[in-house]
Amino acid sequence: MRKARIAVLVSGGGTNLQAILDAQQRGELKSGEVVLVVSDRPGAYALERAAKAGVPGTEIGKKACGGQAAFEQRLIEALEEKKIDLIILAGFLSILSADFTRRYDHRILNIHPSLIPSFCGAGFYGLKVHEAALARGVKVTGATVHFVNEIPDGGEIIAQKAVEVRPEDTPETLQRRVMEQAEWILLPQAAETVSARLTREEKE
Ligand code: GAR
Repeated sequence: MRKARIAVLVSGGGTNLQAILDAQQRGELKSGEVVLVVSDRPGAYALERAAKAGVPGTEIGKKACGGQAAFEQRLIEALEEKKIDLIILAGFLSILSADFTRRYDHRILNIHPSLIPSFCGAGFYGLKVHEAALARGVKVTGATVHFVNEIPDGGEIIAQKAVEVRPEDTPETLQRRVMEQAEWILLPQAAETVSARLTREEKE
């Protein structure tokens, strides 16, 4: 059966990308295949992870393109060239326009490091999310995988997993536990579920 062709969009270290590549390697991502990695930042370590796994990687930056519209146009060209079925935002920090998200309706996944609707939306990314959770004193946090629409972190929720907050946590220790216990598990699972759905729909 045909596999869904996946592009992973990244901005940083790429541990979530790594989790997807590892799941693919172990045969757990059976219905999809990562065929492209795009970074919006120069020198993102995620691109090295892609190269090590033999997956083509490319850099498309908003500044270098000269603005949002040109950036998205370049992105669309790269995605179309590789005939991408599913886009996974894995620590990707650029905001995508409504035109872009509509074009790929229910074909863009994002991982967010909190239990949406807590600590999400504009300005909540990376360590800031965990700083906010600790400042609010929540005892449980977690991660969410959701479809991406025009509202930041506002699309349909696919999966969530709760993670305990410990009294001695710093933003860094909490971030690490949320990654280990939730993000790196949920994202590859969701990639498989949605890839299977896309390829099944194609057959019907
Ligand atoms: C992850 O914790 C991801 O959930 C978060 O950025 C980190 C990227 O790490 N994403 C967001 O905050 C999006 N709003 P990684 O590059 O090692 O996967």
